[in-house]
Amino acid sequence: MIRRAAALAAVLLLAAVRPAAGADAAKGRALAEKHCSRCHVVGDFNPHGGIGSTPSLQWIKKLPDWRDRFQTFYVRRPHLAFVKVRGLEPPTKLPPYATPFEIEPSDADDIFAFIKTLPVPTGNSDITPIEGR
Ligand code: HEC
Repeated sequence: MIRRAAALAAVLLLAAVRPAAGADAAKGRALAEKHCSRCHVVGDFNPHGGIGSTPSLQWIKKLPDWRDRFQTFYVRRPHLAFVKVRGLEPPTKLPPYATPFEIEPSDADDIFAFIKTLPVPTGNSDITPIEGR
């Protein structure tokens, strides 16, 4: 019985940390355009959109640890207040202070696959080279 529980736990753990095999960048793009563009510039979708004080998604890729940041964005401020991942216990019980949205765990993989395709801006601009290409 204990062994079976341990096996089940191992399977669940594997499911939780499974690599993003089969992640769909096109689906990730659609999700990012739908959910992230409200605040972030999302590639060439809304180069003059987003909120001025919020970095463009492609700008975040300039940071050396951008992979970590995107893989855990939903538990990082400010997102933990308004992003719900189905099946995950919300990190806070406080009511959302921005319009909330819900994603599947696989959606986060798809969004990450899309982020990987975004060119990194050069210079000081938040949105080049996407604007200038
Ligand atoms: C309601 C506004 C809002 C929405 C919607 C939003 N973000 Fe953000 N996001 C922010 C703000 C503001 C910051 C900057 C936080 C800071 O400077 O500490 C940020 C920062 C980030 C960061 C960097 C986090 C860190 O700790 O460095 C990532 C990655 C990110 N967002 C991804 C996303 C993705 C992916 C989506 C869509 C699925 C999304 N965000 C939707 C407001 C938003």
